[in-house]
Amino acid sequence: MRILSGIQPTGTLHIGNYLGSVKQWSDMLNDSPEIEAFLMVVDLHAITVPQDPAVLRRKIYELLAIYLAAGFNPEKDNIFVQSQNPDHPYLGWIFNCITPFGWMERMTQYKDKKQKMEEYQNIVSVGLFDYPALMAADILLYDPDMVPVGADQKQHVELTRDIAERFNNIYGETFKVPEFRTNKETTNILDLQNPDKKMSKSDASAAGRIDLMDTPQGIQDKLKRAVTDSDNHVAYDPEKKPGVSNLLAIFSSATGKTVEELAQAYDGKGYGQFKSDIADAVVAFLSPLQEKINTYLSDLEQLDRIVNNGNERARELSSQKIALVADKMGLYHDGKKI
Ligand code: TYM
Repeated sequence: MRILSGIQPTGTLHIGNYLGSVKQWSDMLNDSPEIEAFLMVVDLHAITVPQDPAVLRRKIYELLAIYLAAGFNPEKDNIFVQSQNPDHPYLGWIFNCITPFGWMERMTQYKDKKQKMEEYQNIVSVGLFDYPALMAADILLYDPDMVPVGADQKQHVELTRDIAERFNNIYGETFKVPEFRTNKETTNILDLQNPDKKMSKSDASAAGRIDLMDTPQGIQDKLKRAVTDSDNHVAYDPEKKPGVSNLLAIFSSATGKTVEELAQAYDGKGYGQFKSDIADAVVAFLSPLQEKINTYLSDLEQLDRIVNNGNERARELSSQKIALVADKMGLYHDGKKI
């Protein structure tokens, strides 16, 4: 069994990213150590919107440190940086050529990001529109069985499945069609100030998100101000009580207790104590992680070695897939003759 996923090294990684992705993967690997994992830093995705080069460089290392701090084992798990393997954009281009324009136009994340770009008077690049083709390449190069991501990436994984099936139909069986996988409660961690939208890295205001590197005081303050509702009753009901249910999901992930257990424990206690206890739990959960992240960041050479190793292993595998694709499509490859 093989899983694969990736994160963009952009903005500030928040607890939603962590719980919706990194923690989901590490829980899977803890439960089933035989699972083979491919974990990427997708820097070529990051440049679909403008980036400051110095900041991007730093964010790549930070994300690598976060992966390692989360407990992935670079000897066993394949941790690598997307731009180091040219097979990704190569296959992404091929997918551009077999993907109908209309499939891409349906992607809701593109529509959201396009709107944001226009608000900030930035150009809307072809890359932003086209990015799911590259994401499909990231995935299909490695034949994963499962792609664990948060809810906002579901449509892209479904598109990946459609692209794989289309290629297989045209050229014969080439790609494994992967399953989408998500964790029910943490698949969509909501903004603390606007629980009608997801917690987002790119949101200008940090009040709605808990960043992985937030201080204990910052976490207390943000949770104290988190929007709930007026009935002062702790219960898990994402439809009717999105704010409180979101806090329960975060609480549950930080403590390992179920949302039902926690809702019961806080029944009749009101929101004040509830929020303050969540903050304590989140601080206890994040502090050791922050310490490890800082330790990894203090030795960038070690991170380079780990990435080089991971890149090499990734490329060994992806080059076999590229040879197969080139062969099926009649592209020049290894001097193959007619
Ligand atoms: P990205 O970098 O936006 O987000 C990384 C992961 O975090 C999840 N996530 C959330 N989960 C729960 N609640 C939230 N509020 C929340 N916000 C983000 C995302 O679903 C994702 O799992 N296109 C991808 C990166 C990518 C990728 C891939 C993923 C590129 N190639 C191949 C899987 C496989 C992205 O932009 O994720």
